Amino acid sequence: MEGLVQGKVALITGAGSGLGRAAVLLFCEHGAKVVAADIDGDNAEETAALAKAAGGEALAVTCNVADPASVDAAVAQAVERFGRLDIIYNNAGITISPVPGKGLRSLVECEPEEMKRVEDVNINGVVYGCQAAIRQFEKQAGEGLGSGGAIVSTASVAGLMGYGGVLYGATKGAVVQLTRALAIEVADKGIRVNAVCPAGMLTHYAGMDPDSDNRERILQGMGKAHPLGKAIDPRDTASAALFLASDLAGNITGVNLPVDGGLSAGRKTGG
Ligand SMILES: NC(=O)c1ccc[n+]([C@@H]2O[C@H](COP(=O)([O-])OP(=O)(O)OC[C@H]3O[C@@H](n4cnc5c(N)ncnc54)[C@H](O)[C@@H]3O)[C@@H](O)[C@H]2O)c1
Repeated sequence: MEGLVQGKVALITGAGSGLGRAAVLLFCEHGAKVVAADIDGDNAEETAALAKAAGGEALAVTCNVADPASVDAAVAQAVERFGRLDIIYNNAGITISPVPGKGLRSLVECEPEEMKRVEDVNINGVVYGCQAAIRQFEKQAGEGLGSGGAIVSTASVAGLMGYGGVLYGATKGAVVQLTRALAIEVADKGIRVNAVCPAGMLTHYAGMDPDSDNRERILQGMGKAHPLGKAIDPRDTASAALFLASDLAGNITGVNLPVDGGLSAGRKTGG
C-alpha cells in the first residue's frame, strides 16, 4: 500500500526529540524522504538512524530555526540530497523555563532575554521556515517541477485558549494567526498552510522526563484534563501533521487543528 506522503520530500524541524522525532518516523513510514533538522545535531542523527533502521529514508541536519541562514541551508541540503522540497513541518519550539521548585513562571517573572529567545524560536523560527519553503516551492514551479507545497507548523492549544504560560501562549497564538493569514496569501500558488495545536504531551519539553519512573501516573494525570480522558501521545499529533501535509488534505488550508482530546471544544455543564 502507498503511504500518505509517498515519495514526497519533507523537512521537519525540532526532529531530535519528542513530537519532531515521532513525526520523522511516521512520515518515513508513510513513504516520505525526510530531512530531520534540529539544533542538536547528535539527536537529529539519532532520529535519522532510527528512521533508517525502520526502513525509511532520512537525512539529519543541524539547524537553528531562529537563524534564517541556517534554515535556508537546511532547505538547500534537502534539495541537494532529495532533489526538491514538498513539505516543511515547522515543529521546533521552546518555552519559558519554570521557576525551580515552584513551576510555571508568571508573566511578571519572565526575563526579557529569555522572552526574546522564546519569541525568536517559536515565532521567527516558523516565519523563516515558511519563507525558505515558499521560495523553494516557487523556484520549483518556475523550473516546471510542479507547483504548490505544504506547510505545517506546531502551534499549541495554548495558542487557542488561555492555557499555561502567558508568553508561550502568545507566541503560539502568533503561529495560529500566521497560519491563517499566510494561507490566504499563498493560496493562489497552490501552497497550503496549516498547523496542529496539541495539548500537553510527555516529551523533554519544559524539563519534563518521558522516561520517568512515574510515567504512567503522569500520563493519567494529563489525560484527566481532557474530555476524552487520554493523554496526548506525540504520535497523535504527528498523525494530524501527516494528514495536513498529505494530499488527503488537498483542499484544506488555514486550519489550526487541535489535538487535545476535546479540551478546547468547551466544557460539559448540567450534571
Ligand atoms: N510537549 C508539550 O506539552 C507541547 C504541547 C503543545 C505544543 N508543543 C510544541 O510541540 C513542539 C515540539 O515540542 P516537544 O514537546 O517535542 O519538545 P522537545 O523539547 O521534546 O523537542 C523540541 C526539539 O526542538 C529542538 N529545538 C529547540 N530549539 C531549536 C532551534 N532553535 N532550532 C532547531 N531545533 C530546536 C530541541 O533540540 C528538541 O529536539 C514545540 O513547538 C512545542 O512548543 C509541545
